[in-house]
Amino acid sequence: MKGLIIVGSAKLGSHTTALSQYLKGHFEEHDFETEIFDLAEKPIHQLDVSGASTPTETYKNNLAELQSKAREADFFVLGSPNYHGSYSGILKNALDHLTMDDFKMKPVGLIGNSGGIVSAEPLSHLRLIVRTLLGIAIPTQIATHDSDYNKLEDGTLYLANEEFQLRSKLFVDQIISFVKNSPYEHLK
Ligand SMILES: Cc1cc2nc3c(=O)[nH]c(=O)nc-3n(C[C@H](O)[C@H](O)[C@H](O)COP(=O)(O)O)c2cc1C
Repeated sequence: MKGLIIVGSAKLGSHTTALSQYLKGHFEEHDFETEIFDLAEKPIHQLDVSGASTPTETYKNNLAELQSKAREADFFVLGSPNYHGSYSGILKNALDHLTMDDFKMKPVGLIGNSGGIVSAEPLSHLRLIVRTLLGIAIPTQIATHDSDYNKLEDGTLYLANEEFQLRSKLFVDQIISFVKNSPYEHLK
């Protein structure tokens, strides 16, 4: 079973990526291979169905990689910073490049981070999108704040808040339970 964590921060080394790294560790403890596709590291071009723009080879290759990993994934985690009270445009653009065929009846976990007043609203907005893509957004979600993280000497962020560490375990267990006990295999 393979998972794909898509991170929609505009920042390299974001809090959302740090949380994703923490979750990846837990998935791997359960022998669930999980990849992080960080859109700050591997940007993709804006969706352009008219073909008026000319994306670079790098953008095109990044998109092809995202699309093939999404198709292969058995479950997803969608991660976003809080941007203006919602999830990021970067993540929305990535989702617009994907389809129901990528998400249909697959479990999807939602995670996010705010720098101002902590908010789960970006995740509520994402929940609607996941439903439209025919994915199954699991009930447990994780909405952190910058203050839930510390920095290593080299500046790398890590999840330090113990309550969120515990919640991360529950979140991972729940996704795994949905993946292993899917009653919807015949609907895929
Ligand atoms: C365009 C933009 C809009 C933002 N809007 C909000 C907001 O509405 N509420 C908030 O709490 N923080 C807001 N922030 C701050 C981010 O949530 C904050 O920088 C956070 O650390 C981002 O998490 P990340 O490190 O995972 O990218 C905004 C940041 C940007 C760049």
